[in-house]
Amino acid sequence: MNKQDELKRAAAEAAYEHVRDGEYLGVGTGSTVNHFIDVLAERRPEISGCVSSSKATTERLRAAGFDVVDLNSSGALGVYIDGADEANEHLELIKGGGGALTREKIIAGAARTFVCMVDESKQVDLLGRFPLPVEVIEMARSSVARALVKLGGEPELRTGFISDNGHPILDVHNLEILNPIELEDAINALPGVVTVGLFARRPADVLIVGTPDGVQVSRRSA
Ligand code: A5P
Repeated sequence: MNKQDELKRAAAEAAYEHVRDGEYLGVGTGSTVNHFIDVLAERRPEISGCVSSSKATTERLRAAGFDVVDLNSSGALGVYIDGADEANEHLELIKGGGGALTREKIIAGAARTFVCMVDESKQVDLLGRFPLPVEVIEMARSSVARALVKLGGEPELRTGFISDNGHPILDVHNLEILNPIELEDAINALPGVVTVGLFARRPADVLIVGTPDGVQVSRRSA
């Protein structure tokens, strides 16, 4: 395991402490989540089942012997555990590097507690160095791209990629996101946008950061 993977694994182990027996658990997508699924497979909590944010995660969870149910049948969701591409000190995030942003945002919105795990390379003062993913309806791809240019970004179509929901993704480069909530609202308001990968209206509640000196945990103040 390389250094970055060790930090992700450490963050995943710390995130496991938030898993509650008898509840449905929301599980995100990505390499850090894959470490978390390994931890789940080793410790085998007595959860009611999982709600998954992607086909890839569903396959992995089922292969490890966990029941995966639809969010419509799980009822209220307790804890949602996922990674991120960037996180700031307010626990606002950029997500969607793996293309699962829409289901991730739905599950984060439905969960009582959103626990985000990252390695220290994802911590930033200002969000936007990582290209901001925007999932769009295919026919709106160009009109949304033009509007994103007006908002100061440089959108690029993610080539050879279609989301689990059947939509393309625009990755928006060179944004300096000074006001994440304002930008999230502005992009969400563009006709044809399915989801923007800014998680500012619903940031994480707990951020677990893997560092060479151990994990650092911060919580969002109410
Ligand atoms: C998936 O769409 C993303 O939101 C992931 O949570 C994010 O890309 C983090 O992935 P890694 O854990 O692989 O860095």
